Amino acid sequence: MGYSREELITAVSGQMPERRWGHTLGVMESAVMLADRFGEDAHRADLAALLHDVAKFWPIEQQEAVIRDHGLNAELLDYDKQLLHAEVGAFVAQKDYGVEDAGVLDAIRYHTSGRIGMTKLDKIICLADYIEPGRDFPGVNRIRELAGHSLEEALVAGLDSTISFLIEKRKRIFPLTVLARNDLIQQINRK
Ligand SMILES: [Fe+2]
Ligand SMILES: [Fe+2]
Repeated sequence: MGYSREELITAVSGQMPERRWGHTLGVMESAVMLADRFGEDAHRADLAALLHDVAKFWPIEQQEAVIRDHGLNAELLDYDKQLLHAEVGAFVAQKDYGVEDAGVLDAIRYHTSGRIGMTKLDKIICLADYIEPGRDFPGVNRIRELAGHSLEEALVAGLDSTISFLIEKRKRIFPLTVLARNDLIQQINRK
């Protein structure tokens, strides 16, 4: 327990290819920027971003085994394998790296899918994952622009890009992502 930030950086970067570590550094940078902009604790944003993809490059069988062996959300096993690392990452952050902040663990857990009632930290990590400086996909600049004034507007645009991509590829959509998107729109409309 009680890993220093430097120890976490060494441990996490050792579990992924260099290019992917560059992505994590970008998410840390963007998450801290968003935390400052929208009034969240920058240290929590930094910690969640550092660990968000910790399990991303584990073999899929190993990720599935963690979910099965520890009674985690088995519904994920029926959907795109890309969803698994978020649930596994939250587990690893707690068990292996001693993270006790439930809000940080949730931000890791829901960074790919989103969820209903996303906290500010959830939104920041999910959005930072879309807009970190290394990202380059159609529409990313518009999401960056929206992130200048609204976490929710930017995140809806991000989730829309994911959902559109899945539809184009005729892939299944994880229901929670649709619910997260609808909930964000409702939050915007209520403002
Ligand atoms: Fe991820
Ligand atoms: Fe990521």
